[in-house]
Amino acid sequence: ADSENGQLLQLHQKAAELYHYILVGTPAGEAGLRYLTRRGVSRELIDQFQLGFAPEQQVLKAYCDKEKLDYQLLRKSGLFTEDHAGQLHDRFAERVMYPIKNRRGQVIAFSGRLLSTDQTDLPKYLNSPETPLFNKRRTLFNLDQARKAARQDGKLYLFEGFMDVISAFGAGVQAGIASMGTSFTEEQVGIIHRTTTQLNICYDGDQAGQNAIDRAIKLVESQPTGNLQVRVVQLPAGVDPDEYVQRFGAEKFRQYLASQEETTVDFYLRFLRQGRNLDQQGDRMDYLNQVLKVIAKVPTPLEQDLYLTKLAQEFSLDKAALQSQLTQLSSRS
Ligand code: CTP
Ligand code: MN
Ligand code: MN
Ligand code: MN
Ligand code: MN
Repeated sequence: ADSENGQLLQLHQKAAELYHYILVGTPAGEAGLRYLTRRGVSRELIDQFQLGFAPEQQVLKAYCDKEKLDYQLLRKSGLFTEDHAGQLHDRFAERVMYPIKNRRGQVIAFSGRLLSTDQTDLPKYLNSPETPLFNKRRTLFNLDQARKAARQDGKLYLFEGFMDVISAFGAGVQAGIASMGTSFTEEQVGIIHRTTTQLNICYDGDQAGQNAIDRAIKLVESQPTGNLQVRVVQLPAGVDPDEYVQRFGAEKFRQYLASQEETTVDFYLRFLRQGRNLDQQGDRMDYLNQVLKVIAKVPTPLEQDLYLTKLAQEFSLDKAALQSQLTQLSSRS
């Protein structure tokens, strides 16, 4: 007999096929198809990511009953919820289904999105719970395809959401990954480090996105990732990568990613300005101190010198003074 994990993988594959078939081939999937079409997701992308639809009816439970699948297996799969009487019910209903795959491309979990987030307390995205197959902390959406694409130029793009990864893929950026809803983890940093040499963080162009970039940089820097280069691509205010592609098109999106790549120090030069009025001496001193702390961590003297030149110019300061302040900071820590 197959191992339990083998059986769980098989069940997930069947579920993905069922949800996909319902989306593209049945009236029950029409609402899902309209939703994806409205969001600009092509039929090609639907197939590429094996997107699906879970209708209101208990389709997966019905399928499993017909196949006489083992009750304990179904319980462990995370694809069902259990009521007080021990009866299983499809966990996902009336949601667009995003299969989540492991690095080998096998389906290990799902995320389901509501068609509309109006008038509901339900979560916009509902993910499978942790199962023998699915460890959220170790999973990156689209890693299976992205790691192949990253062999071209050695870069992975870290986006916030599933739709960002999918739209970027459609726009020709196939090396996009996303962490699983919750925050970015040490385990994911390790996986990225073992997969590639450069990570471009490309989160949403809102305050939450900026704060998340700050946390992501600090997380990577806290890990033993050796030569992993981190770059930031800051999106224009108010748009996420998916919205950028829909508004400005694939060509502009690719140009934007290629031209707006900045170092983490340049990100902090901008990020640390927030909430400070640099026309005031107190705020300015405070800003310079914070920024010098960031520059002090830069490993190469030449790169440090570039940032000092930049600061000296912008604030009409003596570069030697900045340099000696930097030396003080470095020796203190
Ligand atoms: N997320 C989640 N549950 C929520 C909101 C967000 O799990 N209630 C996760 C999802 O993985 C989502 C990511 O956080 O993709 C980023 O959140 P957000 O920017 O709000 O969502 P989008 O990816 O932009 O989703 P959409 O475009 O479908 O609205
Ligand atoms: Mn198909
Ligand atoms: Mn967001
Ligand atoms: Mn978003
Ligand atoms: Mn979005």
